[in-house]
Amino acid sequence: MRRIISICLAFILVLSLAGCSGSASPTKDATAAAGTETSANDGSNPADNGSGDSYAYLDPSLSTKDRVSDLLGRMTLEEKAGQMVQGVIGTATALDMTKLGLGSVLSGGGAVPDGNTIEAWQDLVANYQEGAMKTRLQIPFLYGIDAVHGHSNVYGAVVFPQNIGLGAANDTVLMYDMGAAVAEEMKLTHTLWNFSPCVAVAQDPRWGRTYESYSSDPSIVSALAEAYIKGQSDHGISATAKHYAGDGGTVFGTGEGSNLIDRGDTQLTEEQFRAIHLAPYKLLVDAGVKVIMASFSSFNGTKMTENKYYLTDVLKNEFGFKGFIVSDWEATAGLSGDSFGQNVANAVNAGADMLMEPYKYADARMAIIDGVNEGTISIERVNDAVSRILTVKFDMGLFEDPYMKNLKTEVDTLGSAKYRDISKKLVEKSLVLLKNEGSVLPLTSGQKIFVTGPAVNDIGVQCGGWTKTWQGLTDVSNSGKITQGTTILEGLQSYAAVNNIEIITDSNRASEADVVILAIGEIPYAEFVGDSADLSLTGATGLPGNKEAISMVYSLNKPTVTLVVAGRQVMINSYMDQWDAVVMCYLPGSEGGGVASVLAGETDFTGKLPMPWYRDVSDIGTGTKDLLFEKGFGLSY
Ligand code: BGC
Ligand code: BGC
Repeated sequence: MRRIISICLAFILVLSLAGCSGSASPTKDATAAAGTETSANDGSNPADNGSGDSYAYLDPSLSTKDRVSDLLGRMTLEEKAGQMVQGVIGTATALDMTKLGLGSVLSGGGAVPDGNTIEAWQDLVANYQEGAMKTRLQIPFLYGIDAVHGHSNVYGAVVFPQNIGLGAANDTVLMYDMGAAVAEEMKLTHTLWNFSPCVAVAQDPRWGRTYESYSSDPSIVSALAEAYIKGQSDHGISATAKHYAGDGGTVFGTGEGSNLIDRGDTQLTEEQFRAIHLAPYKLLVDAGVKVIMASFSSFNGTKMTENKYYLTDVLKNEFGFKGFIVSDWEATAGLSGDSFGQNVANAVNAGADMLMEPYKYADARMAIIDGVNEGTISIERVNDAVSRILTVKFDMGLFEDPYMKNLKTEVDTLGSAKYRDISKKLVEKSLVLLKNEGSVLPLTSGQKIFVTGPAVNDIGVQCGGWTKTWQGLTDVSNSGKITQGTTILEGLQSYAAVNNIEIITDSNRASEADVVILAIGEIPYAEFVGDSADLSLTGATGLPGNKEAISMVYSLNKPTVTLVVAGRQVMINSYMDQWDAVVMCYLPGSEGGGVASVLAGETDFTGKLPMPWYRDVSDIGTGTKDLLFEKGFGLSY
């Protein structure tokens, strides 16, 4: 590796001396020209270039602080601005990495290389890194991805329960294990920066991102996120706490554009805002989180992405956050300036260090350069932003191993039995038993069980959004399982096979059954697409087929166990009398087998509702005590 670096440095030297470097940006300040003073070294020490001057930043024995200040001192404004910008795959190219020196590239939801194999991912990342390594100072780039419930863009990765189910499980030991497992699967694809965990403290289930929130209770959010982030960082991944802050507090009706609630305005006193929405961040900063993503949403009318008080005064100065703040997907587009350049300046001046500009990365870089030249952005702010980004990169060891040749992983394939087992345990712990009249559960040996409903045999439904694609997709629309895993039905069938239970799926034989299991729920969705005014099982986010299945089962007039497979606590009040037992499954992910073991009583129910369950949408936000179930509710056998 060292040899490669020195060969490259020597190569760059030759190019720049010859005045034909395709990689060096025009340099303005004298220190930035340091590269031209280099001569080939003996290859033993990349920091010793044999000229008396040395690339101190390449010396891993120096402190990160010293390496950052050395490197920063060599960088031109153009190089700095490049580090502050992130483009998206499919648009940003390896050549862009060389020409613009981008600090990062991301995958949006579902953006994968052809084939979506481990090899394809490694090649993709290596290709960008080659582009980055052709720049004058060879600053490695960092790949960012939404591995928000497992490395779920990648076929065959373990898909863990969505956050709301993890909140019901509320187990910090398993959260650490999950963070570690997801990290190991991410390392297989050489993508080391995760846009997760979402630490939204969701207050209104009509929000389409409710399932990305662990709980409406900031203390649960904080504890679970802390354990997960530790699991990630102990295993080499930089996690991101998002979306800072108040994403889960937006008021229904204030959504951005035509959204009902997503990216809207959180309207609280500062004291309430701190107690509910900022609390997790304070703790996570203390725990060493490296990246924080600014929220699209506003607080009392000001977009968080341009909110200097909260990004800089509170998060960086008061809480002491030393990592970097990344803006969200094209977030500059929604800011208050009259031009793109002004919006970029607003975000940077407020404290955003890296701009996620999937398509306008070149313009964003230019806007930063122009901003400094025109005096609307200070060079001190730029230096601070770049120092933060470089600090993370140095600490991750990227400078020593940009191609991740020495990266060790615990597993050599995705979807190992070991990680599936962690996920299955989380599924078991996430199930909340809401009702069990006549002790219809647990299932018992000798029973005939009719199993039906649109959520019972569909991995895509179990996984929800941010799985394989941004919005997620059902197996039905995919004409086959969207990824590897066990459906709830398959789990029940394997259990039944060894426990003298007969599973009936043919509705013509339903009348033979002793018990009926009905699985209904929501379609997959993500972000504002999932905003819903009514939260009804037969409305826009209800699964097609819910209605028929519910009435068909009702007409059977048999003991009924209903499984709700949904990203949030949908409106079920009007059906409660028809159902003898009700289990909230949330979105369990790829390990549907966890449902069978609990229904069968092999493991008891321990899950507790992480949010209050409303009787009717009109009760939301009224502070009513007349809930269907209170937060914390959950029965056991
Ligand atoms: C979402 C983020 C996500 C980003 C990248 C945004 O639209 O709000 O949560 O990390 O896209 O996919
Ligand atoms: C991307 C997502 C992103 C969203 C924002 C989608 O096209 O795939 O990652 O969050 O746009 O609107």
